[in-house]
Amino acid sequence: MERLLPLVRCPLTLDPLVLVEGDATEGILATGDADDDGHEYPVLGGVPVLVPDAAAFLARHRDAVLAALAEEGRVSKATVALLHEVVDGVRGDDYQAFAEDWTAREVDVDAPGFEVPEGAEGRAIRDLIAQGDPWRRIAAAVPADAKDVVEVGPGAGPLTTHLARGRRLLLVDRSLRALFTAARHATDVQLLLGEAEALPLAPESTDAVVAANVIDLLGDPMAFLARAASALRPGGTLVLTTPDPWPWEEDPESAEALFAHVGLTLEAFEDDLLWLREHGPREIQLYRMQLVVARR
Ligand SMILES: C[S@@+](CC[C@H](N)C(=O)[O-])C[C@H]1O[C@@H](n2cnc3c(N)ncnc32)[C@H](O)[C@@H]1O
Repeated sequence: MERLLPLVRCPLTLDPLVLVEGDATEGILATGDADDDGHEYPVLGGVPVLVPDAAAFLARHRDAVLAALAEEGRVSKATVALLHEVVDGVRGDDYQAFAEDWTAREVDVDAPGFEVPEGAEGRAIRDLIAQGDPWRRIAAAVPADAKDVVEVGPGAGPLTTHLARGRRLLLVDRSLRALFTAARHATDVQLLLGEAEALPLAPESTDAVVAANVIDLLGDPMAFLARAASALRPGGTLVLTTPDPWPWEEDPESAEALFAHVGLTLEAFEDDLLWLREHGPREIQLYRMQLVVARR
């Protein structure tokens, strides 16, 4: 927590946060003093919940959050008590689960993959599978001297593994289970439950922000880009991929104009990265991804 606190901010105001109650495992982070009317955010099982309305979020996703913590052995009586304290009095939201967006094979490389048929078709599919792994290429877009890297929306962590090498990594996702799953791929890693559109990162706190296949899921992608840009140190790098280009049009000129709005310069634009997902013995899914790199 000592290392994390200087990097994070209130998702609503970007004010600094201090621990006003409890400890780095089960506690409350807040803007200002404990007696202030500042915004409060719980820390559950060592993970700060820095979403704009943490109480409403946890009321809606309490079961999913508790299940993810329990799977990691991070639930104590204090965790449950704190969670209840935070959601106490919050009404009107039905419980919602998270639909995890990953395949069994992305979590465990030994899980059954696609059963490639014999013959010429099979050989073509085998080639496609070999080419459909874009993660090394994406990680290579992050400069080698970028030591502090934020990955937003890591999912099961297929990219995390390549980003992690020799770097200090901060993972941000709105799914706690995704954070824990991706964190298995890294050693020097910190976790933060947060929303991309209200990225709770301190200004000029990181060398790179990477978000693979997240921007197309966002209702307000410009809010994400603005927060990501402000979190970058001067010269820092933003790396995005998407199978569904948005909010820019498909061409680099449109991406260039859009990034200029948030003070970034477009540095690279590639449109032919293949991303192949093996869903099981009888199903594969193939995307053509765009890779966009911008610099502050
Ligand atoms: C399609 S998955 C991509 C996972 C991984 N980057 C990959 O390419 O395989 C999207 C990830 O972003 C997270 N996510 C979706 N919307 C988000 C938001 N608004 N804020 C933070 N994370 C979000 C999801 O929980 C999930 O982990």
